[in-house]
Amino acid sequence: MQNTGIAIIGSGSAVPTACLSNQAMMDLVDTSDEWIKTRTGISQRHIAAAGATLSALATDASRNAIAMAGISASDIDLILLTTSTPDDLFGSACQIQAALGADKAVAFDLTAACSGFLFGLVTAAQYIKTGVFQNVLLIGADVLSRWVDWQDRGTCVLFGDGAGAVVMQANSSDRLLGFKLKSDGSQNHYLNLSYAADSQELTPGVTVSKGAYQAITMNGKEVYRFAVQSVPEVIDKALFNAQISTEQVDWLLLHQANQRILDAVAQRLDIPKHKVISNLAQYGNTSAASIPLALDEAVRAGKIQNNDIIAASGFGAGLTWGAAIFRWGR
Ligand code: UT7
Repeated sequence: MQNTGIAIIGSGSAVPTACLSNQAMMDLVDTSDEWIKTRTGISQRHIAAAGATLSALATDASRNAIAMAGISASDIDLILLTTSTPDDLFGSACQIQAALGADKAVAFDLTAACSGFLFGLVTAAQYIKTGVFQNVLLIGADVLSRWVDWQDRGTCVLFGDGAGAVVMQANSSDRLLGFKLKSDGSQNHYLNLSYAADSQELTPGVTVSKGAYQAITMNGKEVYRFAVQSVPEVIDKALFNAQISTEQVDWLLLHQANQRILDAVAQRLDIPKHKVISNLAQYGNTSAASIPLALDEAVRAGKIQNNDIIAASGFGAGLTWGAAIFRWGR
């Protein structure tokens, strides 16, 4: 086993075509465009059609990332799908492997809610660092619209569907400069998509659970409080591990949950607004997809350039949170 560096050499994204505007939201729940915009920064979200699959969305994003990386699907050693909304509870990564024709790749799912992409990045990095794999396709994809209570105005205005992907490759120098991951299950009850058991008796004395997953429930105020406190701290720790100062950071790339959270975190870290990447207005909170989706847009728009230093941070259910500092490109 050799110790190798990591480069992130391609990105891609995909979103469903159908959009749900704040105006349209007003037909569903008692809300207003003004409330949603001022409290969250969101103007619209993309929503997957009834027959659409997470795997197809993730496959589209992956194809774009693979093309930018200049490799072929058969070069991929590992496909890591981070999602909380697979098409199949057994996992959806293998369906993506088949659709891409990535015959050589091992494929599996990883769940860490809105921190999924960040946790996936660090997990994938370990396989590359140890020399086990050379090319990893890391995907963040979610269709939370399947699990939103469309009558709960406190949550339904926030979420949208999407997918983003990156190709990570073994490299002579390490461009993943530092990271820090955290979990706190004692705060788990603040944000859930939980299973509710319904008992069914098979034979006398033997019962099984034949329940169903419930809609997303969230204590928005507590999650907000947690985010503005914990995210700057974890970014600080990742910067320390990377031996990078905040002034050296070119882009602050946070999980796109709420514009007010983005602003508060940037302010606490003393990072100027023009370095904060935001696409919340167009997509809302796309959970595990939000970081790679925003990354891909910024790369394709020419904002993020080769060698730029990115401070990325994800946070959400678990509770989980984490940060990674990396240089974009080869
Ligand atoms: O990716 C996972 C991470 N999740 C997050 O980061 C979410 C973090 N939390 C938040 O972003 C914010 O807490 C929310 C955007 C969810 C809510 O904003 P808030 O400023 O914390 O509002 P609130 O929950 O304190 O509600 C204020 C008022 C309430 O009315 P009263 O009790 O003051 O009369 C709510 O009922 O706003 C009301 N409200 C709404 N009004 C219009 C709640 N949702 C809506 C709505 N439209 N959609």
